[in-house]
Amino acid sequence: MKQIVILISGRGSNMQAIVDARIDGAQIAAVISNRPDAAGLAWAAAQGIPTVALDHKQYASREDFDAALQAAIDAFSPDLVVLAGFMRILTPAFTRQYAGRMLNIHPSLLPAFPGLHTHQRAIEAGCKLAGCTVHFVTAELDHGPIAAQAAVPVMGDDTAETLAARVIVEEHRLYPAVVRAFVEDRLQIDGLRVRVLP
Ligand code: GAR
Repeated sequence: MKQIVILISGRGSNMQAIVDARIDGAQIAAVISNRPDAAGLAWAAAQGIPTVALDHKQYASREDFDAALQAAIDAFSPDLVVLAGFMRILTPAFTRQYAGRMLNIHPSLLPAFPGLHTHQRAIEAGCKLAGCTVHFVTAELDHGPIAAQAAVPVMGDDTAETLAARVIVEEHRLYPAVVRAFVEDRLQIDGLRVRVLP
């Protein structure tokens, strides 16, 4: 049984999609949030999933917080760490620790629009397609090997909110599918490319 630790900062709808997928051979060992008031934390606890709140504001530096986060994660000996709306920039040492076994979902078609406000930026850039990307996490922000992407059309009257609503539907479909592929050992990393075995 592969153990999965999910990190969140907010509502945790991607976390919910992964939990609800009930992936064979995987157990959600814990959900950890850097925000004690994250709505997703209460949802996970209500499902009987162990939860940990680790308030980043209680730590003097990013390094101190990441060290505490690493200790909290490693207490569950996970095979996979899943970032699901975890809104923290991670230190290189932290990302190295989980190289090849930490996934993130980002609400753009990377390498376009890393960082924040992705939907507004896609609209302003005149993009006809937007979407989401699931990638392995490296030290470079929003830049690891891409496991999967999903695209949606950008409509003429879209706002950041209407586009986000279209993209999140795809996020909830894509992320559980990639986690399932990881659990089934079907993802092979080759540089920045990821081969997804059938
Ligand atoms: C999702 O749209 C996710 O792609 C995005 O935050 C949202 C979290 O929603 N992540 C990032 O922007 C990471 N840079 P959720 O808490 O409901 O899953």
